[in-house]
Amino acid sequence: MSRKLIVGNWKMNGSLSGNEALVRDLSGGIGEPVCDVAVCAPSIYLAQLHGLLEGSRIELGAQDVSMHEGGAYTGEISAGMLKDYGVRYAIVGHSERRQHQGESDVHVALKAKRALAAGITPIVCVGETLREREAGMTEFIVKRQLSAVIHLNGHCISEIVVAYEPVWAIGTGQTATPEQAQNVHAVLRTQIRAATEHADRVRILYGGSMNASNAAELLSQRDIDGGLIGGASLKAADFLKIIAAAKA
Ligand code: PGA
Repeated sequence: MSRKLIVGNWKMNGSLSGNEALVRDLSGGIGEPVCDVAVCAPSIYLAQLHGLLEGSRIELGAQDVSMHEGGAYTGEISAGMLKDYGVRYAIVGHSERRQHQGESDVHVALKAKRALAAGITPIVCVGETLREREAGMTEFIVKRQLSAVIHLNGHCISEIVVAYEPVWAIGTGQTATPEQAQNVHAVLRTQIRAATEHADRVRILYGGSMNASNAAELLSQRDIDGGLIGGASLKAADFLKIIAAAKA
């Protein structure tokens, strides 16, 4: 398996001065990281981050991308525009967008396709709600979400990153156990394997209340290839500890 990948999802947090301080502390402490590292910032700050991260070990990510190539889509940001600012990754289908912006599996698949066409790696988020888990539907839900992306993107699927984020674990402090996470990651790996002979290249991240104390155990699971970190990515010391825990 390739190097692990640790991604910070800043969500709707940050400010010009706060971003500068956070990047300064991260760059100061990161040294030679044992894994790949990226931060996904609000789009308004991508230009700032593009400058701040230049020459650093931290790559830039966006939190979303339009499913359209360009034109009359007020408020949208295209993959080509993200590329102009050195964006390497784009989160697509985060559960908060599926929930609040009504994004469907098909929207998410289209967004992944736009990102790939622009040379940006989509980080495709999948995950079940608590009700779905309790109803025994976890496997069905995550497979349905991922299959839309596989269906539309064909052999390019080996170029994506997947993030398993159980909705009930996001921002709640209620992390999936390493065993619960590994079980779902193994299901996703099998699904990817059926779609491409390069399945081992696809990194499957875990996200949902990952923090400095639980990261090492989660990241030691066989099919967990990194993390997508929300709250704990806003504190440099915590994020650096998670990065250090992500040995290959
Ligand atoms: P959290 O968020 O780490 O704050 O739970 C993860 C995410 O939503 O990507």
